[in-house]
Amino acid sequence: MGTKRGFFIAFDGLDGCGKSTQAKLLASYLVENSYSKDVVLTFEPGGSPIGKIIRQITLYSDLPINMTTELLLMLAERSEHISTVISPSLVDGKIVICDRFSESTIVYQGVMGGIDLQLVAMLDNVARKSIWPDMYIYLDIPEEVAWQRALQRSNQTVAASKYDVTDISFFKGVRDAFINEWKNHHRPLLIVDGTGSIEEVHKRIVKKFLGKFYGTN
Ligand SMILES: Nc1ncnc2c1ncn2[C@@H]1O[C@H](COP(=O)(O)OP(=O)(O)OP(=O)(O)O)[C@@H](O)[C@H]1O
Ligand SMILES: [Mg+2]
Repeated sequence: MGTKRGFFIAFDGLDGCGKSTQAKLLASYLVENSYSKDVVLTFEPGGSPIGKIIRQITLYSDLPINMTTELLLMLAERSEHISTVISPSLVDGKIVICDRFSESTIVYQGVMGGIDLQLVAMLDNVARKSIWPDMYIYLDIPEEVAWQRALQRSNQTVAASKYDVTDISFFKGVRDAFINEWKNHHRPLLIVDGTGSIEEVHKRIVKKFLGKFYGTN
């Protein structure tokens, strides 16, 4: 896999917590402030050509799917994404920002899908070739806020994936699972309050990011 020289950031959290919005803003901030000329903004599932096909199957197909099959497809997507996009970019010294990563698999297919968490973690480690983000950013919003944003989005014309469910108890389950994950986390992690305006959340992320990046918090 080569020797990694770049910096790997992942965003995760509930549907609608602002991952895509904030990943994009952080990428622009890092380029504009000369942290890197090359920031690779990517996402899961779907950040590689094979991954795009897997995204269609896992998120947008009406066909019933066995949860283990879904897990293995998500991990196949990650394996391809790591080998063709993330790892080569890190070897080239780029900053990679990934919108969703392993914690989504643990929460959605593991906790919510009922697959043994140790098994998910072990297979995930194989898929990501033991590469872990240098900084994992969780955007935390209460399930009520996620629910409200989902309702607003369902009135818009954005295509809804099967996980864009308008069921608040599902959001609560996902949030509880993320919070439980945070408690057991022994890896670089920033927990950021995702409520408030887009600009307020961006400022919070930059402040915490710089603190961690320079080791001042
Ligand atoms: N801080 C915020 N306040 C209000 N609305 C926001 C905020 N951040 C994002 N939004 C809006 O909420 C919706 C979801 O945001 P975004 O797509 O960034 O979330 P996401 O976490 O990527 O969601 P998904 O998991 O479904 O991809 C968008 O319509 C976005 O404009
Ligand atoms: Mg998104």
